[in-house]
Amino acid sequence: DVYEKTTTAPVNIAVIKYWGKRDTSLILPTNSSLSVTLSQDQLRSKTTIRASKDFKTTRLWLNGVEEVNLENNKRLQACLRSTRLLRKEYENSLSSAGHLNIPPLSEWNLHICSENNFPTAAGLASSASGFACLVYTLAKLFELPTSITDLSRIARQGSGSSCRSMFGGFVAWEMGNNADGSDSQAVQVASETHWPELEALICVVSDLKKATSSTEGMQHTVNTSELLQYRISKVVPKRMHDIEAAIHARDFKKFAEITMRDSNQFHAVCMDTFPPIFYMNDVSRAIIRLITEYNNSGDGTYKAAYTFDAGPNAVIYAPKKNIKEIINLLAHYFPSTLDSNKEYFNDHACLFS
Ligand code: DP6
Repeated sequence: DVYEKTTTAPVNIAVIKYWGKRDTSLILPTNSSLSVTLSQDQLRSKTTIRASKDFKTTRLWLNGVEEVNLENNKRLQACLRSTRLLRKEYENSLSSAGHLNIPPLSEWNLHICSENNFPTAAGLASSASGFACLVYTLAKLFELPTSITDLSRIARQGSGSSCRSMFGGFVAWEMGNNADGSDSQAVQVASETHWPELEALICVVSDLKKATSSTEGMQHTVNTSELLQYRISKVVPKRMHDIEAAIHARDFKKFAEITMRDSNQFHAVCMDTFPPIFYMNDVSRAIIRLITEYNNSGDGTYKAAYTFDAGPNAVIYAPKKNIKEIINLLAHYFPSTLDSNKEYFNDHACLFS
């Protein structure tokens, strides 16, 4: 007997950044964060999982290449362990309710096949959609009655930011206080239909693999940055509150200002790490100047907001009506960096290199 399930999961881009863990094995953050989940039309992970009593071992393929030594992959093992435990409870509850012939999927080996429809190396939150997709596919395969927020606590143990990809729309990852992580989870702040005029444009400045991984970089920051302590205690709690209000009111100016300030502070905290970590490059900084000028050229309302994760690529949030103008601006000011061999994903994403 073979049981099989396939699902897809979206990418999310934070506007209040997660940077720092208070527990590195449970993946518990030092601050709450908030992100926008992008539509799955352009960027998504897709995972197929098969369970069979005949599989000798559990195996994993990422973008067609098999990963070896899965037993050493702590994050994958944490997600498998948690979902198998829930499946076991589910099997027990069904059999004690008199159901016969429940396949013991909790005990079988799995073949897991996961792929992204975008370049993994570009650092476009591939681990976020990847682990969200893994956990969601397991939950479907195992027919778990578990809520999405409960599943987000499992995805969190794969990669922190992935807990936010379990929901569409605007999603908060509440840092929680408990040492066991039982209250560190994702909740939806507003659904994907709440603010349809808001769009994201992804500018791939470089698709080289980043020099310092997020996982490694953020712990250097926790260990050495004084500015981080100020950020997590004094700045983020108020920003979480204010950006949620801006989202509910669809107040783009407020949303944009908080988004740009939080990206700037995240990179300031990286610079305050000792030795410092640099994720943005000259093109990233030129994009910041361009968006700043563009916002100052109008009638006082903001037209766009930039944000940068742990790499040089820009994500620009803007009302739909401005997107064409922004693409034209970027193409005009960075003509040599616009790679005509790579097609635009569509109006939502463009590639520079
Ligand atoms: C800059 O979620 O990739 O994108 O939990 O160690 O897997 P791990 O880190 P990860 O870090 C993401 C950092 C960020 C900000 C964010 O997405 O909030």
